[in-house]
Amino acid sequence: MIEYINKNRTRFIDELLAFLRIPSISARSEHKTDVQNAAEFVKAKLLEAGADLAEICPTAGHPIVYGEKIVNPSLPTVLVYGHYDVQPVDPLHLWDSPPFEPVIKDEKIYARGACDDKGQVYMHVKALEVMLKNNALACNVKFMIEGEEEVGSSNLATFIQQNKTRLKADIILVSDTGIIANDTPSIDVGLRGLSYVEVEVTGADHDLHSGVYGGAVGNPINVLCEMIASMKDSNKHITIPHFYDDVVIFTEEERAELNKAPFSLDDYKKYLDIDDVEGEAGYTTLERTGIRPTLDVNGIWGGYTGEGAKTVLPSKAYAKISMRLVPNQSHEKITELFQKHFESIAPKSVRVQVRPHHGGNPALTPTDSVGYKAASLAMEATFGKKPIPTRGGGSIPIVALFEQELGLKTVLMGFGLDSDAIHSPNEHYGLFNYFKGIETIPLFFKYFAELSK
Ligand code: BES
Ligand code: MN
Ligand code: MN
Repeated sequence: MIEYINKNRTRFIDELLAFLRIPSISARSEHKTDVQNAAEFVKAKLLEAGADLAEICPTAGHPIVYGEKIVNPSLPTVLVYGHYDVQPVDPLHLWDSPPFEPVIKDEKIYARGACDDKGQVYMHVKALEVMLKNNALACNVKFMIEGEEEVGSSNLATFIQQNKTRLKADIILVSDTGIIANDTPSIDVGLRGLSYVEVEVTGADHDLHSGVYGGAVGNPINVLCEMIASMKDSNKHITIPHFYDDVVIFTEEERAELNKAPFSLDDYKKYLDIDDVEGEAGYTTLERTGIRPTLDVNGIWGGYTGEGAKTVLPSKAYAKISMRLVPNQSHEKITELFQKHFESIAPKSVRVQVRPHHGGNPALTPTDSVGYKAASLAMEATFGKKPIPTRGGGSIPIVALFEQELGLKTVLMGFGLDSDAIHSPNEHYGLFNYFKGIETIPLFFKYFAELSK
């Protein structure tokens, strides 16, 4: 198989570049056709790779691409999940090259979606081709590649409920996470959940002269900042009542185990160009992103932000706030707690409104399952090192839903790096990682079939 991969190396890269040229930003309505085109691309490439069937399934939002290759119904079935939609590109001026004109520099492909998740999805498409061309597909495989992951997968739950029989499988395989380093493979065994809300603070019913009224009338931006600041205490502990009620507390042994993963705080700070980190007192950086919940403002606006100065007390201020959740927090419950708390701390000088966006529950994937073992053996074979189980700080809300709706566990066999700048300007994906994935996925199928016997 390796020979086949090497022989087709240039084509495998060129095809991914073509995929990356499609600006499939799911959050932007002006890109609706591009999102559709990306779905068409995935469908066509699955068929080219040798799938028996590939189709575009419309939803109330962006379509889902479903495909399958059934080798033999008596073999185990792997359901591959990924997403072909990407995040918006702004701030555009910070990109060294246009986000949808991929370039290869220092053995890395630079483009929006290069790593998250087009590059990783395409590894699976090429792995299918490699396995079929070499008569080596050891399992049945189904593909469910969606176009709304970056906006909350809001139509995927319905799709799953309506296609339960079709989606029947033994394991879900997802490449949408990362490894510690190219010489330190790892497998995420946990993902954080997410509660995302937008808040609006209103003062007077129109903007006011900041001299005539300043100091005497509530300024929504000042008030919003005070409210946000009050939601964490001096230990960076979230102050929303009952926020931590359902948080699973790690034992000292579990914490020690988690902190064994290779991590250099100095390198971390250097990479981020910061003099110090910040977070909940009493926890390490790995714990803060892996097993502790958090609350962050993702965007804040209001008032005058144009050129020069304008003296004004704005009528309104807004913020988008995300809370990352850990087992066993529920995103519905947290959103409700947030809403109640936010309303209760608002001073009488303003009116507030909380608008919940999407959310998702945290997920855990076991290390003693056949799926995890197969992924571990496959990575050990291609990296020459046994992967370390890690906790991922990001969210893929659908993982908890797969378990709930299909009773299926997920294996998160991702190949990205934290330094790939996903969601940021200059997102990139290493050719090393792309080909490591294409090489490792067939071995996952092989070991999964063997261990399932
Ligand atoms: N692939 C990421 C999630 C991720 C990245 C998990 C790195 C672990 C390590 C995914 O595309 C993503 O960005 N998810 C969103 C959640 C969604 C509901 C918008 C996130 O985590 O912000
Ligand atoms: Mn992703
Ligand atoms: Mn993402």
